[in-house]
Amino acid sequence: MSSELSRWVVLRFGPSGLSEPERWRSLAEVIRRRRREGLRPLVVLPALPGMPEHMWKMLGLPGGGPPRLKVLSVTDPHLDLALRLGFSRADAESMLAPDLLDLGQVALQHAVTRRDDAPTQARITSFAERLLTRIAVAYLNREGIPAGWHDARTSVIVPRKPGRTPGSQLLPGEALLKHLRALPDVVVTQGGIAKDSKDRTVRLEPGGADLSAAAFSVWLEAERCEVWTDVPGLFTVDPSLVPSARLLRAVDYAEAQEIVTSGAAVLHPRAIPPLRRHRIPLHLRWIDHPESPGTVVSAAGKDAGPQVKAISVRNGITLIAMETVEMWREAGFLAETFNLFARQGLSIDAVATSETNITVSLDPGASNSEANGSGRERLDKLDKLMTDLQAVCEPQRIAPAAALTLVGRGIRTVLHELIPVLEAFEEMKVHLMTQAANDLNLTFIVDEEQSERLLRQLHGLLFSHHSESAVFGPTWAEMVQGDKADPVAASGEGDWWRDRRDDLLALATQESPLYVYDSATLDRTARSVRDLGVFDRVFYAIKANSHAGVLSRFEAQGLGFECVSAPELEHVVRLFPDLDPARLLFTPNFAPPAEFRRAFEIGARVTIDSLHPLRAWPDLFRSREVLVRLDPGHGQGHHAYVRTAGAQSKFGVAPENLAELSDLAYRAGVRIVGLHAHAGSGIRWAGSWSETARFLAGLAEQAERLFPDVRSLDLGGGLGIPERTGEAPLDLGELAASLRSFREEHPRFELWIEPGRFLAARSGVLLARVVQLKRKGGVTWIGVETGMNSLIRPALYGAYHPIVNLTRLHEPATMLAHVVGPICETGDILGRSRLLAPVEEGDVLLLANCGAYGRVMSSWYNLREPAKEILLPETL
Ligand code: LLP
Repeated sequence: MSSELSRWVVLRFGPSGLSEPERWRSLAEVIRRRRREGLRPLVVLPALPGMPEHMWKMLGLPGGGPPRLKVLSVTDPHLDLALRLGFSRADAESMLAPDLLDLGQVALQHAVTRRDDAPTQARITSFAERLLTRIAVAYLNREGIPAGWHDARTSVIVPRKPGRTPGSQLLPGEALLKHLRALPDVVVTQGGIAKDSKDRTVRLEPGGADLSAAAFSVWLEAERCEVWTDVPGLFTVDPSLVPSARLLRAVDYAEAQEIVTSGAAVLHPRAIPPLRRHRIPLHLRWIDHPESPGTVVSAAGKDAGPQVKAISVRNGITLIAMETVEMWREAGFLAETFNLFARQGLSIDAVATSETNITVSLDPGASNSEANGSGRERLDKLDKLMTDLQAVCEPQRIAPAAALTLVGRGIRTVLHELIPVLEAFEEMKVHLMTQAANDLNLTFIVDEEQSERLLRQLHGLLFSHHSESAVFGPTWAEMVQGDKADPVAASGEGDWWRDRRDDLLALATQESPLYVYDSATLDRTARSVRDLGVFDRVFYAIKANSHAGVLSRFEAQGLGFECVSAPELEHVVRLFPDLDPARLLFTPNFAPPAEFRRAFEIGARVTIDSLHPLRAWPDLFRSREVLVRLDPGHGQGHHAYVRTAGAQSKFGVAPENLAELSDLAYRAGVRIVGLHAHAGSGIRWAGSWSETARFLAGLAEQAERLFPDVRSLDLGGGLGIPERTGEAPLDLGELAASLRSFREEHPRFELWIEPGRFLAARSGVLLARVVQLKRKGGVTWIGVETGMNSLIRPALYGAYHPIVNLTRLHEPATMLAHVVGPICETGDILGRSRLLAPVEEGDVLLLANCGAYGRVMSSWYNLREPAKEILLPETL
């Protein structure tokens, strides 16, 4: 049968997933679509996962029973798959029969010869690919897709030239094209197996089916080569480490090569050079979502201009730093030293030299890792090397280290954009830095324990400002329907302001600078905490944002209010005169007696955080119920100023004073009905609150005699949000799960919580107009109309608030600048080294995540009025 379709497309599927019938339906659909496009598919399939190894174990190694039974053990998984694909047993058996017959003979022969060389292994294990492709042909034909079977070993020949990488020299069999011409429209063949020039079966390793797909693409001069796996494509960073990783839509061959070499397990790097040489586009696609566009690797990516496209991390690196004065003007020193490495068979990856120091890295994953050895053997070699080196220099071993690599074409020309990246390294030692001569990568080697945190931070710095474009696609979190850990991000409305840009710009024409809060986000965050089902009471910490509109939204959601001063209490009572006082919690620090008096009058629950009130004003507390704030001993949080526990903190009663406290309470007739602790603010570790709960419960239970009336444990606030894109959000699900187990163990306690930031921060933005631009010291300064008088967090804590040019939200961010306010303080900087769409006087800049601790901490410093506030209703 001869095909009408003249242009080929090579479709490589797997490696995992073809055991699922669902994936086969996708495979058939993809093939149908390509035929509709007028392309003739050649389908390259691997074996079922683990099957080649299983075959060798059953049929190649001694033992395991009679050959016939052993053949059955490798037949069964294939028969089972065929049955699950809806074939009858008879059909399944007959589609596999010819190969099984062959296999039976080979197995019998092998039982006699017992050879275990590579060609024998390959001959036996290649049945794994053969059987799966038989099933595929039968399946496609049944689905109405005319398909024929092609034995890859008739066309894929590996010349046996010593020293050549297998696979880089694949040649087509003479008869390939002629043979294929005679087959039905769709050709199905095996990936990863070939023949050598002596007509023996070989396995293409490493690279397997990827190499086969590349080779067929080249021979057939295919329109493109598509690799369909269970991964959506290439990403800016490993999405399992950073869920805000963005899909890369377009990269060039060299960039793709660099990214897959440095760890992305989408395809084998050796598959790229043949495609690159013949300019055949490579499409990396997602089998679970055939509509997802994936990554296109082609020469066209080159025109996109220089840009950092991805970051990768490799752990387990050992560095050897060699200090010597001998090297200075000494011929042959490097050669002598490197010889010592060679003598131990240790391969050097990167090198940095100065007049008196050479530092090299040894990469465990280097290509000659066999020579590098592993485990104990490698350590022995390193010890010997260190002894040898001592004769010529002062060596120092630094391990474990990690290499962070920024990948992108023309990285040298975008170095200026990397200034913020370099700032991220400020507090840590960079042991070694290399910039590859091919201008594609820049690598920093740092201590391994820092690597993951740094990776997240760098990714945030480099990619948080990107939105979708021709090069960057959606984020991983968006692709898998949002980050389930964070309902606000999950709903895609962490950035609600993107959808309301026009409304915000309209507001800014009437009033600026201006804080704007979004009602829908406030409602959603309130529900996300309230509905966790583990807290008996949720009090909103109004110190974070006491705007009347914000409080009304939370009141309507049934939250209580935590107040730290009498004026805060009065404010809530004024707004909600009919509020049940049980929804009011007073948690002051060093408050005067009058404030406690007022709190009792109002009927609020009252917390004391020192012995002084009971000792000095016992009458004020007589016969009252109070909670006691305890110091949990060590604080947590985003900055030293917000860690509210430990010896250095002014908050809470130290556990050693509890006996005295109980005594004072007894004498004043005060009942201690709850214990409270707040470790700090901006915590994103989900286990923090169950840790606090266990601390409080432990004290309550140990000191049962002192606190017989304790019913409630208040776990404080502190729930953090990611500041920069790329930071992991607090996992509310995990937080709830840990508290659920706590509740099962300690059912007698009510659990309370008092979050501020988590409920309010993401609902608010600060809008500020650009007033002036300045170039100075090689840096661009963007001056906006308000600064630390409206938002002091960056100056006080070095806090990070994302900044965008709202006026030009959809233009590419290409301007690198510091964003500053008009206040007479050097620290009046809202954002350092930010990338913005080019800014002009009058543009409106937006600072995100300003709904908590923004306006409430503002001042009239320099007599400049701070930004006003407004609550944005659902529609304007
Ligand atoms: N409960 C107590 C006893 C507190 O001291 C605080 C905050 C909270 C609850 C609420 O914490 P949140 O959930 O908002 O983290 N101005 C700093 C934050 C200071 C927090 C002080 N106490 C900032 O802008 O980051």
